[in-house]
Amino acid sequence: GYLVASDISCFDGKDYYCLDDQMIAVIDKSDIKFYNKDKICNLKIIKNIYSVGGENLNKYSHFMQKEIAEIPEVIKNIAKRYLKIVQTYKYKNLFSNVNNIIISGCGTAYHACMLGEEWLYQSYKISTRAYLSSELRYKDNIINEKSLVILVSQSGETADTLAVLDKAKKAGAKITCITNVEYSTLANGSNFVLPICAGKEISVASTKAYTAMLIIFYILSSKNAKNSESFNKLLSLSRQISAKVDEKVVDLVSKSKRVFYIGRADDGATACESALKLKEITYIDSYGYYAGELKHGTIALVEPGVVVIAIITDEKVKSKTLNAVEEVLSRGAKVIVVSFDDVSNKFEKININYCEDKKLRSVLSVVPLQNLAYLVACKKNINPDKPRNLAKSVTVE
Ligand code: M6R
Repeated sequence: GYLVASDISCFDGKDYYCLDDQMIAVIDKSDIKFYNKDKICNLKIIKNIYSVGGENLNKYSHFMQKEIAEIPEVIKNIAKRYLKIVQTYKYKNLFSNVNNIIISGCGTAYHACMLGEEWLYQSYKISTRAYLSSELRYKDNIINEKSLVILVSQSGETADTLAVLDKAKKAGAKITCITNVEYSTLANGSNFVLPICAGKEISVASTKAYTAMLIIFYILSSKNAKNSESFNKLLSLSRQISAKVDEKVVDLVSKSKRVFYIGRADDGATACESALKLKEITYIDSYGYYAGELKHGTIALVEPGVVVIAIITDEKVKSKTLNAVEEVLSRGAKVIVVSFDDVSNKFEKININYCEDKKLRSVLSVVPLQNLAYLVACKKNINPDKPRNLAKSVTVE
């Protein structure tokens, strides 16, 4: 018999055919024929070299919990694999002959793009911008033949991101993708694939894939990634990760009516991503903001019963975020601070380990916040792996 599916992970390691757009397959009891624009054509069978695996929960209660626990291992996998990838011709020439960099993705992947934008610009000083794929697909005059377009997607099948792929192809741009699925439509259509090596991600809430995307941007923005120094940093990062969150903090968030995540600089992206994680699996009203924006409107919503989670990993802007914290405290909010620093005991704390490299602190701070969302969902008896109204890959617009 024949199996027809939109994702080869359904075929459990069996070889397969891949239809192009507009192609038709006619299957009967004993045969299969392919047509391209009404003409019969041949299609080569593709060897399925990708092991599916990863579907066992083992000792875990949910896939989200398992996937958060796998993050240190994923970082080690990336370090191992990229030692070779950074030596390739395509990698070494990625930024040559390019005069602008466009990074794009949706949802969690877009939050990784926000950090990628900053890190790549600081390293290469080439004009770099991150766009939501759902917006970029309808914008004109952004991508040209001198653009490097970096498309970011765990699944490699997100409709909006594929529409940007099409646009970038038509503009003659250099296209690279950062994806977890090396046989995906996105990978097939890109000139160069940067795998995130996260292993299968089953839970709808993306956790290990997000941290893996950050690590790839970290490698891309490390100009010295050809020597082993940055890979050693990654190995030590994998040992510093902790998802630990006190029960008191979980309790506070699960009883709150609204949660604001705030941070400045890189912590702003962590705030946006953590707010998305909480709302999608706990249904608590939550928002992520750059801390300086609070007083431009949002502070009107701060009152008793509201929780503010402040992420502070950058010494340069620490006092500024703490000012915002004072302002929300005086309006009756309960505050949780995520930091490696000792801060006042007026707040609850989520402690993270200190890491010399500022960029890598975004990985250390987001993991306990992913876990916080997970623990709150469990406390509210919501299955975190299957949030309402959401699908793992959004293959329609
Ligand atoms: O597969 P993709 O990375 O392209 O998916 C993009 C978004 O749909 C996805 O990141 C979504 O926001 C997450 N599931 C949220 O946890």
